[in-house]
Amino acid sequence: MVWCSGWKLVSAVSDFGCLGLIGSGSMDLDVFKHHIKKCKIATNKPFGVNLPLYSKDVDAKIDIILQEGVKIVFTSAGNPKLYTKMLKKEGITVAHLISSEEQAIKSDAAGVDALVAEGYEAGGHNGHNETTTLCLIPAIRKITSKPLMAAGGIGTGQGMLSAMCLGADGVQIGTAFAVSDESSAHENFKLKVIQSKEGDTALALKSISPVRMMKNDFYNEVQKAEKEGVSVEEIKELIGIMGRSKKGIFDGDLIKGELEIGQVSAQMKKIRPCKEIIKEILNEYEENRIALSSDRYKYD
Ligand SMILES: Cc1cc2nc3c(=O)[nH]c(=O)nc-3n(C[C@H](O)[C@H](O)[C@H](O)COP(=O)(O)O)c2cc1C
Repeated sequence: MVWCSGWKLVSAVSDFGCLGLIGSGSMDLDVFKHHIKKCKIATNKPFGVNLPLYSKDVDAKIDIILQEGVKIVFTSAGNPKLYTKMLKKEGITVAHLISSEEQAIKSDAAGVDALVAEGYEAGGHNGHNETTTLCLIPAIRKITSKPLMAAGGIGTGQGMLSAMCLGADGVQIGTAFAVSDESSAHENFKLKVIQSKEGDTALALKSISPVRMMKNDFYNEVQKAEKEGVSVEEIKELIGIMGRSKKGIFDGDLIKGELEIGQVSAQMKKIRPCKEIIKEILNEYEENRIALSSDRYKYD
């Protein structure tokens, strides 16, 4: 996650048995290298990198990934055909993030090792089709037999269990970790998120690339611009290149910044360590799995 997933969050998540991903999208090359190096020191568990393929420095970032020996790359926001083959040739496991059946078919054909299917509820960049996680996962499960991770709206054990029931092999969680102690997001942002309620996020910037964010002045500004039919170039100017998300998430400007976060934010009530978040999710998952398979749910 941009502005959230630095080495502290990633190593904490990996240390507790999950797979942390460095959010390279908001890092320049030096910062990116620094976070990989720090992460290698902070944990001896596997971790990976999220690599948005639209970045203009994607080739240079791949060079760093290879130099530093990172073995897992999750690509997003771009064509999986471009880099999958090359990364795999270098012994890297590649997962690609998709939000539609069409993208899943293309990713499968590009030879990715795994897919992350992200539904409408998710924070940050989102799909144009607006398909919810509940509808997306079973559809993608029919397309591919590859490992499939569900993303979007999952922040509890119940959510994780339902994703597995729908056909996922695992889950990718963003929002819940964005407000963890170890997230590098600004305290203002974390507090705003844990105080939010249902209905406080919306999908905006649909004319360029839909993004789920909290409603604030910036959100109103882009909504107004899109309604008035302002050109794509002008809207891009309004956002600035990563400018507004840095302002909101990293610098903590809750009014003028872009506050990317998912719908499940309404269920997040505390800023706490990753370890606590993961433990709670796994315990809830197990309790609910057992309850669902118990006799009281069986019919004669
Ligand atoms: C603040 C924020 C930043 C994100 N940045 C990225 C990113 O750089 N690349 C990416 O592939 N996904 C990004 N995402 C999406 C997450 O990786 C994840 O798929 C999503 O948050 C899952 O849905 P959830 O928010 O309901 O947990 C971001 C999400 C958030 C909340």
